[in-house]
Amino acid sequence: MTLFARDLSSSEGNPSPAMVDPFGRALTYLRVSVTDRCDFRCTYCMAENMTFLPKKDLLTLEELDRLCSAFIAKGVRKIRLTGGEPLVRKNIMHLVRQLGKQIGSGLDELTITTNGSQLARHAKELYDCGVRRINVSLDTLDPEKFRKITRWGDFAKVMEGIDAAQKAGLKIKLNAVALKGFNETEIPDMLRFAHGRGMDLTVIETMPMGEIEEDRTDQYLPLSQLRASLERQFTLEDIDYQTGGPARYVRVAETGGRLGFITPLTHNFCESCNRVRLTCTGTLYMCLGQNDAADLRSALRATEDDGLLHAAIDEAITRKPKGHDFIIDRTHKRPAVARHMSVTGG
Ligand code: 5AD
Ligand code: SF4
Repeated sequence: MTLFARDLSSSEGNPSPAMVDPFGRALTYLRVSVTDRCDFRCTYCMAENMTFLPKKDLLTLEELDRLCSAFIAKGVRKIRLTGGEPLVRKNIMHLVRQLGKQIGSGLDELTITTNGSQLARHAKELYDCGVRRINVSLDTLDPEKFRKITRWGDFAKVMEGIDAAQKAGLKIKLNAVALKGFNETEIPDMLRFAHGRGMDLTVIETMPMGEIEEDRTDQYLPLSQLRASLERQFTLEDIDYQTGGPARYVRVAETGGRLGFITPLTHNFCESCNRVRLTCTGTLYMCLGQNDAADLRSALRATEDDGLLHAAIDEAITRKPKGHDFIIDRTHKRPAVARHMSVTGG
């Protein structure tokens, strides 16, 4: 039945109509967390001692492919693989290759968000599979600070990964989580580094997701504040550039490069939300900042016929909420959403 989904979406020039949610937003973007595991333990993302899903609970790569294909048949045009760290999932390139075959016939773009640790090994193959742009998470350029924030990461390896990816022809966007007292004064250097190498840089506010050892209110840096401080050194011009995500971009006159701001907390970024998030167990989250979810695994495994799966997806979309409920809860110090970012992949 997967074939049927593919046949539908491959009718050239006649892409499947998009799914539309109750608030009139067309859902054309699927993010897929292919594993909740990671070879890093970034302090704002995970506790050092994480309990991960038992491997037996994971969907197989074939099942993930079938689910993604159902979404493409329903009008999804862009898929991003995330994690955890997607490149630590065994045989992940098999899924990348399968999905890559649908680029140009239903799918416009296949991308990946990675911490870069395994990128040197996979860059060329990613390009061969049709991936053209990737996001690399990088919060500092200082190897010692890198070790501190990732707990287990090796900065040199990530740099090798970035080199290999650029050599392979992949366009890179660096994502840095803005952390008070950690990298706020380093952003100008990161900007020069990224733009000097032809990469965009996006800064992200920390979101209160999952229990971590540290106090999130200590880490939270409003990007309005960061922007004001950058404007003392740089000329930032608002531009219309859009990548299908929630970032607002500026051009930095001095470097000629682009800088994006993702501000889930300082102002609502939900109005133009075009995405849903699938986990590696087949759970669909309709919003990053809400707990409501739909179980697609049962529909997937109940029958070979995709009809049930399509119906389950349609039902889930009717439950897409208007927006998230993120607040930094200063009194209770509880995360707004109990699951970690690594479950739904940002
Ligand atoms: N808040 C904001 N960003 C986060 N990320 C991981 N956890 C959080 C959080 N709590 C980021 C990673 C990566 C992206 C997938 O999400 O650094 O860039
Ligand atoms: Fe891993 Fe990314 Fe989380 Fe860091 S932020 S622990 S690299 S999933």
